[in-house]
Amino acid sequence: MKKKLSRAQPANARVRPPRRRLFRMTTLAALFALFALYVAWHEAHGPDARRDGELPITQVHADDTSQPAASVAVSGGDLVRRGEYLARAGDCVACHTADKSRPFAGGLPINTPFGTIVTPNITPDPDTGIGQWTDADFLRAMHEGIGKGGERLYPAFPYAEYTKVTDQDVLAIRAYLNTLTPIHYTPPPNSLKFPFNQRWAMVFWNMFNFTEGRFVPDPKQSAEWNRGAYLVEGLAHCAECHTPRNFTQGLKSDSKFSGAVQAGWHAYNITPDKNSGIGTWSDDELVAYLSTGAAPGRANAAGPMAEVVNDSTQYLTKADLGSIVTYLRSVPAISGGETRPRDQWGNPANDVTTLRGTKINGVNGAQLFVANCASCHSWTGQGVGASAPGAYPSLIHNTAVGASDANNLALVILRGVKRTTKQADILMPAFASQLTDDQVAAITNYVTGQFGNPQSTLTVDQVAALRTQQ
Ligand code: HEC
Ligand code: HEC
Ligand code: HEC
Repeated sequence: MKKKLSRAQPANARVRPPRRRLFRMTTLAALFALFALYVAWHEAHGPDARRDGELPITQVHADDTSQPAASVAVSGGDLVRRGEYLARAGDCVACHTADKSRPFAGGLPINTPFGTIVTPNITPDPDTGIGQWTDADFLRAMHEGIGKGGERLYPAFPYAEYTKVTDQDVLAIRAYLNTLTPIHYTPPPNSLKFPFNQRWAMVFWNMFNFTEGRFVPDPKQSAEWNRGAYLVEGLAHCAECHTPRNFTQGLKSDSKFSGAVQAGWHAYNITPDKNSGIGTWSDDELVAYLSTGAAPGRANAAGPMAEVVNDSTQYLTKADLGSIVTYLRSVPAISGGETRPRDQWGNPANDVTTLRGTKINGVNGAQLFVANCASCHSWTGQGVGASAPGAYPSLIHNTAVGASDANNLALVILRGVKRTTKQADILMPAFASQLTDDQVAAITNYVTGQFGNPQSTLTVDQVAALRTQQ
């Protein structure tokens, strides 16, 4: 037996593929089968299949005050202005700018669980930007997540939402981008590990997490609702931060807008749920929050939401903000386990006078609060300036202080708050370099205990982890 085998082996080795190759071929076959399934699925569900049922998109634009009324052929200047407005609604600048002196030239590293993706240059530079892209290339990128060379783009580029945007609006954005100063700059390469560095593999991501196709208005809803849905689900891509993700990092469509944590920041539940979401906010408060970043007595926008307000929502017309609110109010309310509204916790402090002259041993949250925070927020925690623009907000009845996790509070202490709007320049200093992790934990726990949700506490290790988040 043995003899036979050893004699047969050299010949066999040429005929029979070695194990490794066999494995590779099986894998390829399996991938091909999956791909074929995808193609079949795409045929059945793709945009062409849906086209029959599509409604005229004009309705979506009913309230679009950025668009000159009754203009069919928009003049060049109007088209560019409209494109600028829409680019703001889509917040392109936030991701495509790493250095303020190089707007839209990319280079911003975006951390994902699979590695770091660096945003490309989208200025009209012909060599390093998108100057040589045709309109068709640009439409394909925005609608299908496919780059100029046919390569798959990573969904860190929110094409899953931008696919909903009309051709007309995408081309207006392109017209605006064409007017930008071309910047010659090549951003550093991505650092993704195998297999995530294989762009073609995004076919599988798309299969599970992406439906290509333009927004379809609902004729049963008002023009305002449709406009809101078009913006929230499309350009404004609110779900990218406010919706939890599955293990492939796709959005969980059954818990849309119920809140998610990204890079440490909790983008809160914005469904109409009364305790966990925005159910108790008035329309005016929501519009104020999106246009200024502050809804006095409820919430302030810090971190990624401060950037959204700064670069995007503050520029939207009151009509568009109203539409966004109308739409948000209509999404299914999802309870997030909060036992009362996050902005209904806390009492003014009355313990601080007792601290005067007392010898403090070790790290004391109340004393650190008085030393570092009270000059602006008052030792009672009630703030200064009430609801005036640029006021130092009350920490009582504040959503970040009343949340059942204190992530955002600790991050606000570490990084401060910065926003520039028409109403005010907002600045809370960052304390990362002044305060140690145990001091930040002590202040956080004092602030939630006194002014917010006392069940929400952080350990020194949790603060240390938040400090290193990027
Ligand atoms: C949340 C972050 C984010 C936002 C917001 C964003 N992009 Fe991007 N975009 C990216 C990333 C990341 C890539 C690169 C993806 C890749 O490498 O596969 C990208 C790629 C692109 C590309 C392809 C460029 C190329 O060289 O392949 C275009 C075009 C583009 N974005 C346009 C836009 C426009 C227009 C907007 C606003 C409407 C926008 N992006 C908003 C993150 C973003
Ligand atoms: C880049 C991520 C990101 C995007 C995009 C984003 N948000 Fe937020 N949002 C956040 C974070 C983080 C917070 C919490 C901010 C804080 O605690 O100061 C927040 C807070 C909010 C709040 C206040 C909730 C509360 O209880 O305090 C509202 C309302 C809100 N976002 C609405 C929206 C809407 C509407 C959109 C789309 C137009 C949107 N957000 C897009 C990250 C984001
Ligand atoms: C120099 C003044 C100043 C100091 C000192 C200061 N803050 Fe602030 N704080 C602000 C301003 C300004 C805002 C943002 C107001 C706005 O959003 O309109 C703010 C916002 C906040 C918020 C709301 C954040 C949110 O997302 O809702 C909290 C919580 C907070 N500060 C806690 C603290 C704590 C704790 C300290 C001490 C470690 C502190 N602040 C020190 C000025 C200050």
